[in-house]
Amino acid sequence: MYSYTDFDEAFVRERAAQFRAQVDRRIDGSLTEDEFKPLRLMNGLYLQLHAYMLRVAIPYGTLNSRQMRQLAMIAERWDRGYGHFTTRQNIQFNWPRLRDVPDMIDALADVGMHAIQTSGNTIRNVTADHFAGAAADEIADPRPVAELLRQWSTDHPEFQFLPRKFKIAVTGAEADRAVIKAHDIGLQIVRKDGQIGYRVIIGGGLGRTPMIGKVVRDFLPKADLLPYAEAIVRVYNQLGRRDNKYKARIKITVHENGIETIRDMVEAEFAVTRGSFGGADQALLRGIEAQFAPPRFATRSTEAYEAAYGTDPVFRAWVDTNVAAHRAEGYGIVTISLKAHGATPGDATADQMRVMADMAETYGHDELRISHEQNVILPHVHRGDLPAIHARLKGAGLATANLGLISDIIACPGMDYCALATARSIPVAQKIATRFDALKLEHEIGALKIKISGCINACGHHHVGHIGILGLDRAGVESYQITLGGDGTETATIGERAGPGFAYDEIVPAIERLIHAYLDLRDGPEETFLDAYRRLGAAPFKAALYPEAAQQDAA
Ligand code: HEM
Ligand code: SF4
Repeated sequence: MYSYTDFDEAFVRERAAQFRAQVDRRIDGSLTEDEFKPLRLMNGLYLQLHAYMLRVAIPYGTLNSRQMRQLAMIAERWDRGYGHFTTRQNIQFNWPRLRDVPDMIDALADVGMHAIQTSGNTIRNVTADHFAGAAADEIADPRPVAELLRQWSTDHPEFQFLPRKFKIAVTGAEADRAVIKAHDIGLQIVRKDGQIGYRVIIGGGLGRTPMIGKVVRDFLPKADLLPYAEAIVRVYNQLGRRDNKYKARIKITVHENGIETIRDMVEAEFAVTRGSFGGADQALLRGIEAQFAPPRFATRSTEAYEAAYGTDPVFRAWVDTNVAAHRAEGYGIVTISLKAHGATPGDATADQMRVMADMAETYGHDELRISHEQNVILPHVHRGDLPAIHARLKGAGLATANLGLISDIIACPGMDYCALATARSIPVAQKIATRFDALKLEHEIGALKIKISGCINACGHHHVGHIGILGLDRAGVESYQITLGGDGTETATIGERAGPGFAYDEIVPAIERLIHAYLDLRDGPEETFLDAYRRLGAAPFKAALYPEAAQQDAA
């Protein structure tokens, strides 16, 4: 795993000290809230509905047990004993007191973490496939290049005041587990004629105008990445709209100017920019790559695993849903679900964080990942250790066997925390999860992604949920709009609006009708909800959602 250099260390320490002085000045009144706002946002500190919120970056979702334990300590000492893992591989602390934030930031710096550029119109935390370096289907580990991008973009003097925030995601496999097509820049590592390079996608994004990114370069040689990225951001910085916040993202720039024009401009800029890099970035990348060398995998017996798999149905169900194929023989990738039925999606208590840290240290080569689906991953686990891990996770309420199933819901904080929310998200997620758990239908329904946002900003990715739920305010009353057929993977699609919204009390029954319709309509258990929707179109699902309208049509 990447460890900080002396330069990195000095840099975050200096920023921490600077911010401490700014907080002091806010507390003694020499800075007004308006003056303080841009300073705090440069350090990931938001003002939420009830309190400040600190957003901490977890670059490409990777952290070690020491870092996870430190997050637990911070949660316990300066927050309310838990943290919220988000869809951008960050962790948010929802209840810090302003005067404690400098201490929190110092504590983060102690383990090589920070909150820089987790807010503001800058290049945000670079995200990556959470199975990076472990997945059986991977061409190359995307994390070294994500780290290179992080170093390049952090405090980049030209890119501190972009028209709007800017998000980059990287995947090293054909299967897209990083939602690259809904990012400002999405990078896919590809191989062509034996050479490693990147497919570069730009202009994706969710929010009020959701768009799927477009390919700007089908194959970019590895050595050209930084100058090319710099050319893209430079063109966007010049062309992006600053007159209207809602039209400021690169997706709008691409949409208004056309991908061809943007491509020509980027290529022209790239031709100039390329020379100024002179290969220094590639020397840096080689150093970074060495730090991401895979751990040494053991060859040992998996007998204990096979015995437990054969005899313990609870263990078997967990392995079947939550353990994915690893590239090394005898290994697996464990996803720890933070979606126990009825829990807040993405929340982990300090004790749970410590259990996960222990599991990583004892059994997982000291590595943890945070997924954009708000779960935690142990990327390198020997199958022989799975029974022991499962037992320990079970004791901590972390062994829910629901990965990729109906209760593995992404939900933004919504009205429970967020100042921008127009409706609640968390209770809707909780009610859906507990309802389908009670119906005992979850495993029968199979692969299904429900994603919920509490307003049009789409932090909960509802546009790319197979079933998306968007909470809105209709004359002071919460209303929930359903979108169908969204997909956040390599076959990315923006979901279609099904029809009028549902009241808070109607949303769970509506989802239930939808699911029953799917179970009736599908070709068999192999056909997922999304496949069935793609085969049949929206009509039969809409009829299930709006039975009265369907009856009127028939009359
Ligand atoms: C203080 C709390 C938060 C605020 C004020 C906030 C604000 C926003 C805003 C204004 C946008 C729309 C940006 C645009 O389209 O230009 C947005 C998008 C987004 N936010 Fe949040 N958010 C918050 C919390 C979260 C959380 C908790 C998550 C994850 C669970 C999250 C993940 C995202 C994602 C993934 C987008 C994607 C849309 C895109 O850029 O394409 N945010 N957020
Ligand atoms: S989608 Fe809206 S309500 Fe939810 S976290 Fe984002 S800004 Fe807040």
